[in-house]
Amino acid sequence: LDNGVARTPPMGWMSWQRFRCLTDCNLYPDECISDRLFRRTADLMVSEGYLDAGYEYLIIDDCWLEKERDENGRLQPDHIRFPYGIKNLSDYIHAKGLKFGMYEDYGTFTCAGYPGILGHLEVDANTFAEWGVDYIKIDGCYANVEDYEAGYTEFGMYLNRTGRPIVYSCSWPAYLESSGTYANYAYLSEICNLWRNWGDIQDSYGSMSKITDWFGKNQDRLIPYAGPGHWNDPDMLLIGNYGLSLEQSKTQMALWAILAAPLLMSVDLGAIGSEEKTILLNRDIIAINQDALGIQGRLIKTVANIQIWSRPIMPIVNGTHSYAVAYYSKRDDGHPYAITTTLSDVGLSHQSGYLVTNLFEPVLQEPQSLKISEDFIVRVKPSGVVFFKFTPIP
Ligand code: GLA
Repeated sequence: LDNGVARTPPMGWMSWQRFRCLTDCNLYPDECISDRLFRRTADLMVSEGYLDAGYEYLIIDDCWLEKERDENGRLQPDHIRFPYGIKNLSDYIHAKGLKFGMYEDYGTFTCAGYPGILGHLEVDANTFAEWGVDYIKIDGCYANVEDYEAGYTEFGMYLNRTGRPIVYSCSWPAYLESSGTYANYAYLSEICNLWRNWGDIQDSYGSMSKITDWFGKNQDRLIPYAGPGHWNDPDMLLIGNYGLSLEQSKTQMALWAILAAPLLMSVDLGAIGSEEKTILLNRDIIAINQDALGIQGRLIKTVANIQIWSRPIMPIVNGTHSYAVAYYSKRDDGHPYAITTTLSDVGLSHQSGYLVTNLFEPVLQEPQSLKISEDFIVRVKPSGVVFFKFTPIP
């Protein structure tokens, strides 16, 4: 969607994966979906350096609404959990230098059963703009599959008419693809800034690897439609929660960078471990994710059950791209397995060779530069990655 926003994949924080639909603030005072959670998170995004690193959108997912609209037919937040209203919270978030995002659903209800926007598209678009919303995720529960195309188009038109630049995230393809129907990504890329392609991520390595498997398998249909203003979305980052080991957390960060995926954390920023935080704040990897060319990378081959993923990035030297390349182990034989490849093996062809940057752990004995036919050995830990940037030598 050519509306001036999301020229690189959106970065921020979204409540769903970690905080779900916890609404009992007596039982879960620090975790319930409430004004307090979002102000606390806004404070931490700034004080802990996430905003400086690029994570700018703070997005409220489902379960923020009252069960009924107000007497004028407008959406209203739960009055107990959001006692100061949404505009007040949005002002607080903006005053911190962050941007503000929300969630709704195209159907009659949100996935968790709160009022959807169907029948109220125009008034709701206006309400979001009045509240200062900068990013809206529109889900697809409780809707007819045949209505999605016209409905998402119409809501996008109302958003556009508000005159406020709002990132428009569309979940509709996830509902088609999960039931085996191909979505029309050419059209989606015209009306949405990003779209969830497939099922929800859950806090486990199994869930994450199912998603990357799906993205690898379907890449030829997806890659052409990623670019500035329009992105495929493999769903939130799990990093810092319970389900991923450190190696697996690095894997998610690397693959989401290769995939030009939105980087939406969903974690308690007050409780995150320092190593996980370091992964999320890795500037070199964020730079790859945010590369200005916006080309989505691909799984190029699998050698001895090690997947090799590659993404063309800046700088372009003598007409040749730099590349981010991840070696990702799908092996289950429990040790840092060594594979030998050359740059030619991974599709790099610049005759004078490449400078090598190891993006997670610069290691002394690693080569500084490589000729394309030179063997080099990479040791990949189980379910982990080794992630490089290769820059052509002039
Ligand atoms: C769907 C979405 C999730 C989340 C929930 C909220 O499952 O895919 O990302 O928004 O709804 O109910």
